[in-house]
Amino acid sequence: MFRTRAALAVGLLALTASLAGCSAGSPTVDTIGDVDFDTPLAIPPLAQPVEDAAGRTRFDLTAQPGTSHFTAAGATRTLGFDGAYLGPTLVADRGDTVRIDVHNRLDESTTVHWHGMHLPAAMDGGPHQRIAPGGDWSPEWTVDQPATTLWYHPHPHGETAGQVGRGLAGMFIVRDPLEAALALPRTYGVDDIPVIVQDARFDDVGRLLRESRDFVGPLGDTLLVNGTVGPRLEVTTDVVRLRLLNASAARIYDFALSDGRELALIGTDGGLLERPVGLPSVRLSPGERAEVLVRMAAGETVRLQSRGPGAGGTALGSANGLRDRFDVLELAASDSLLSAGTVPGSLVSVERLDDLDASAERRFVLDGTQINQQHMDPGRIDEVVTVGVTEVWDVRNTMALPHSFHVHDVQFQLITAAGEQPPPELSGWKDTVLLAPNSEYRLIMRFADYTDPDTPYMYHCHLLQHEDDGMMGQFVVVAPGQRAGTIEPGENHDQH
Ligand code: C2O
Ligand code: CU
Ligand code: CU
Repeated sequence: MFRTRAALAVGLLALTASLAGCSAGSPTVDTIGDVDFDTPLAIPPLAQPVEDAAGRTRFDLTAQPGTSHFTAAGATRTLGFDGAYLGPTLVADRGDTVRIDVHNRLDESTTVHWHGMHLPAAMDGGPHQRIAPGGDWSPEWTVDQPATTLWYHPHPHGETAGQVGRGLAGMFIVRDPLEAALALPRTYGVDDIPVIVQDARFDDVGRLLRESRDFVGPLGDTLLVNGTVGPRLEVTTDVVRLRLLNASAARIYDFALSDGRELALIGTDGGLLERPVGLPSVRLSPGERAEVLVRMAAGETVRLQSRGPGAGGTALGSANGLRDRFDVLELAASDSLLSAGTVPGSLVSVERLDDLDASAERRFVLDGTQINQQHMDPGRIDEVVTVGVTEVWDVRNTMALPHSFHVHDVQFQLITAAGEQPPPELSGWKDTVLLAPNSEYRLIMRFADYTDPDTPYMYHCHLLQHEDDGMMGQFVVVAPGQRAGTIEPGENHDQH
């Protein structure tokens, strides 16, 4: 691990001081009104798969270094998949067997994790599926989950923040017939728009600054949307669908429209909601996604912004940049708009998991950068789950700061959120959830298949610096009566 315990102790001291002094030290960033939206929003290209003789949909992804131009101060050295920054958008249909040929052309080892995907542990791209520099890795699985917006990013233990922060991330869209039957905008890059939001900080020659001694992790003062600074999107349809992804290390956003009109939330991490929910703002912690519809009138301009805590936000405190305000993306409608669909009254039916069906309950207490008083040990399996079982995970944040809790392999539902009945925006499938300070969340999930006693999945805080500091645990899914195996030591050769 890069960060020493001493650095962490300094961070905790600073944290204590800032809690006592009410966010002294970190000045509030406010870019509203200061962003020239003069650059067309970059749309990550669609990956072009080929169908092979075995009927698999094959993609090719190469992690590589590159040079990007974000600021007038100078060129920025970045990382990307198949390009200088970020990666292509992968699209697959439910039922497709995909194989992804990943090539590591970085000078450091990496992994590629399919965040939110239900798949065998050996294909998950977590810390145990390291790809050496110059190496290749070809995971394969059958996509079997509802239409939604997932993403992919590296997951090498201790180095995730650095690699994601330099640009290694991309979107993975799952489609299915239920979604396709709805009158929703779905023309990629036209009325169905990826919106990958990251915050960055540059030095005076244009280099990315990523280090942070702050407990929450690095917070930038410049927003990148799909790698574009000051992005403007020409909207040509009367309804536009935004697939929002918070790919930032630590920042929590409250996305809202500049004129106060509601966003129609249609989907969360793991799929569509039962019906659209009109919201003044949509909050996303690192790792979370949301699909929203925005209705546009011909000729108008409206801005997507992130504006401090919305209703109830004060409970989150001011860490994670919650006091900051940003102009994010300008939506500029053409003088005449094509009709892209509607905001449907209802979407899909969401099967409710019932806690009466749960046969196991586990408790996770998050404190400092530990879960259940332990840091990640790649050689230790923390939890053993029996396949086919529904479980309740009781997750408690005992700190005065937020965390973001993510579980690999499954999508979960919330039984309670901060002790309450979950609000409509937390009523659908989720794989990552913001944990408000000093709050308890009850998650329910089913581990339907894919046993492998020797290869763990991860659960962790998705604030990337916390994750890198070891705020992560490992679980295996086993057959009934089977015991957890051992993790092959060779798989951990890159650990510090
Ligand atoms: Cu987005 Cu374990 O990751
Ligand atoms: Cu994940
Ligand atoms: Cu955390």
